[in-house]
Amino acid sequence: MTLIVVRDLTKEYDGRKLRALDRVSLDVASGEWLALMGPSGSGKTTLLNLIAGLDTPTSGTVVVDGAPVHALDEAERARFRRDTVGVVFQHFHLIPYLTAVENVMLAQYFHSLADEAEAADALVRVGLGDRLHHRPPELSGGEQQRVAIARALINQPKLVVADEPTGNLDADNEAVVLETFQKLHAQGHTILLVTHDPRVGALADRRISLDHGRIMSAGLEMDFDNARWKRGERQS
Ligand SMILES: Nc1ncnc2c1ncn2[C@@H]1O[C@H](COP(=O)(O)OP(=O)(O)O)[C@@H](O)[C@H]1O
Ligand SMILES: [Mg+2]
Repeated sequence: MTLIVVRDLTKEYDGRKLRALDRVSLDVASGEWLALMGPSGSGKTTLLNLIAGLDTPTSGTVVVDGAPVHALDEAERARFRRDTVGVVFQHFHLIPYLTAVENVMLAQYFHSLADEAEAADALVRVGLGDRLHHRPPELSGGEQQRVAIARALINQPKLVVADEPTGNLDADNEAVVLETFQKLHAQGHTILLVTHDPRVGALADRRISLDHGRIMSAGLEMDFDNARWKRGERQS
C-alpha cells in the first residue's frame, strides 16, 4: 500500500526567486523507511515540512493516507498532524523544567488523553524506563532525543518524520537513537528521515537525493569500491 503520494510539489518562499522545491514527485510505501538526502539548502526540510503538513506548497499535491495535505486549511492541517504524523527535530524541543514523563504527557494533553502510565510506557519502549522523572538538563543528548521520539509516538502516528534527528549527537548517542528508529521500522512505522550522513541513510530501505530542490532520479548509490556515495541521474 502507498502511504504518501507527492506530485509536482513546488515551494517558492515569499520574496525568493529560486524554488526551494521544484516539481518533486515521489511515492512512499506504507512501512517504508525513506532517507531524504542532499546537501545543505537542497530542499530536504522544505519537502519534509510539506509532507508533514507543517507548511503549504506553492503548487503541486501531497496526499498522505488519503488526506490531501496541500489543500487543507490551517485547522485541518493541525488535525492531520495530530492524528497522522509524529515529528522529531534535530533540536529536541523539550520543555526543560518538565520531567521526561511530563514532556510526553504534555503531548498527550494535546490529544486529550493524558495518562501517566501510558506516557511512562512510551518511555520504556525507547529504553528510558529508568529516566522517567529526570529533566532534560539531567539527560544526555541521545536520551533527550529518545524522549522526543516517545513524545512523537504518543498518538500512534502512521508516519514518523525526522529532520536530522542525530545531527546534534555524538557517536554513542547517535547509535542509540538510530537503534530506536530501527525498532520503529521493525514495528511497521513509515519513516521519513532527513540526513546528509550516508551511514545514517544506509539504514533506510531507500534513499532519494535532492539537489537545488529537485530529485535525482536514481538517488544515491553506494560505490563500495571507492567507499563513497555516487550521484544518480538528474530528473529531466
Ligand atoms: N522560511 C524560509 N524563507 C525563505 N527561504 C527559505 C526558508 N526556508 C528555507 N528557505 C530556502 O529554501 C532552500 C531550501 O531550504 P531547506 O529546505 O531548509 O534545505 P535543507 O533542509 O536541504 O538544508 C534554501 O535555499 C533556503 O535558504
Ligand atoms: Mg534542513
